[in-house]
Amino acid sequence: MVRKGIVLAGGAGSRLRPATLAVSKQLLPVYDRPMVYYPLALLMEAGIRDILLIAAPDQMPLYRQLLGTGDGFGVKLSYRAQAKPLDLPDAFRVGASFVGREPVCLALGDNVMFGRSLAKTLKHAARMEDGARIFVRRVPDARPFGTVAFGTDGRPRRLVEKPTAKKPGDAVPGIYFFGPDVVAKARRLQPSARGELEITDLLRTYLERGALSVDRLPRDVAWFDMGTPDSLLDAARAIRDRERTRGDKVACPEVIAWRQGWLSPTALRRRADALVGTEYGRYLARCAAAHR
Ligand code: TTP
Repeated sequence: MVRKGIVLAGGAGSRLRPATLAVSKQLLPVYDRPMVYYPLALLMEAGIRDILLIAAPDQMPLYRQLLGTGDGFGVKLSYRAQAKPLDLPDAFRVGASFVGREPVCLALGDNVMFGRSLAKTLKHAARMEDGARIFVRRVPDARPFGTVAFGTDGRPRRLVEKPTAKKPGDAVPGIYFFGPDVVAKARRLQPSARGELEITDLLRTYLERGALSVDRLPRDVAWFDMGTPDSLLDAARAIRDRERTRGDKVACPEVIAWRQGWLSPTALRRRADALVGTEYGRYLARCAAAHR
C-alpha cells in the first residue's frame, strides 16, 4: 500500500517565461487556484496523506505560506528544497530520507487530472507494494512526452523519452507509483547520452525485470500537462467548462479531504470562511453545509 507521496514542484519553467521569472510555475493560477493544488489533489485521491513537497530553495517560503503544515487539507506536509532543477529522478535523492524504504507515489507539479473514475483508478494503483506502476494516454503527437511502446501481446516493450517523429503514441502522465527500492535505483542511474537522468531511465530498470505495470487512463479521465502557455490555458478552460456544466469543482483538496474523512465539516467551514467572496469558498461552504 502506498502511503507516501511526493509533489515535484521545482524545475525551471523555462517554457513559461516571463511568467516564471520570479515565481515557480506551480504557483501560477490554473483557473481559480494555484497549480500545485492539482497534483496535491491527485495524491489525496490516491488515499495518500503523508506528502513531501519539493521546490526550489527561493520559492520554499511561498509554498509554506500557501500550504502550511497541510492541516487545512487534512494531510501532513513536509518540505525539501531541490538545490538545482537537475532532473526528475532527483526527487528520490532529495526525498530519500522521507521515502525511506516504503513505496511512494510521485506526482509532477504541473499535471492536472480529473474525471469520474479517477479516484477509483488511483486508489487501485496505490494498492501496489513493489515494482512500478504508470499510466498511459494515447496522444496525437507524442514528441513532448515519455512514451510506452507495446508488443503484439499488449505488454509494455519499450520506453522512449520524447520521441523525435511527430506521430501518435502512448504518453505517460506525470503520476508514478514505485516500490520501496526506488531510492536505491534512482541513486544507481547513469546519465543518458544527452547527459541527463530521465524518469524514463528509472522506469526502464523496472521494465527490464518485468516489474513495470502500465494501465490506460480511463476515457472519462482528462489529463493536462501544463508546460506551455497554451497547455496552461487549455487546462484552465477545461476546468472552468467542466465546473460550470456540473456545478461542482474538480481536484479540490479540501473537499477530497472532507470526503475521505480527513477534514471535519467544521474545519471545511473554516476554510470556506477564509475564502469568503469567491466561488471556491462558496463551494467549500456548500459541501460543509451538506453534512450538517
Ligand atoms: P518539466 O516540465 O520537464 O520541466 P520544467 O517544469 O522545469 O519546465 P521547462 O521544461 O519549461 O523548463 O518538469 C516536469 C515537472 O517536474 C514540473 O512540475 C517541474 C518538476 N521538476 C522539478 O521539480 N525538478 C526538476 O529538476 C525538473 C527537471 C522538473
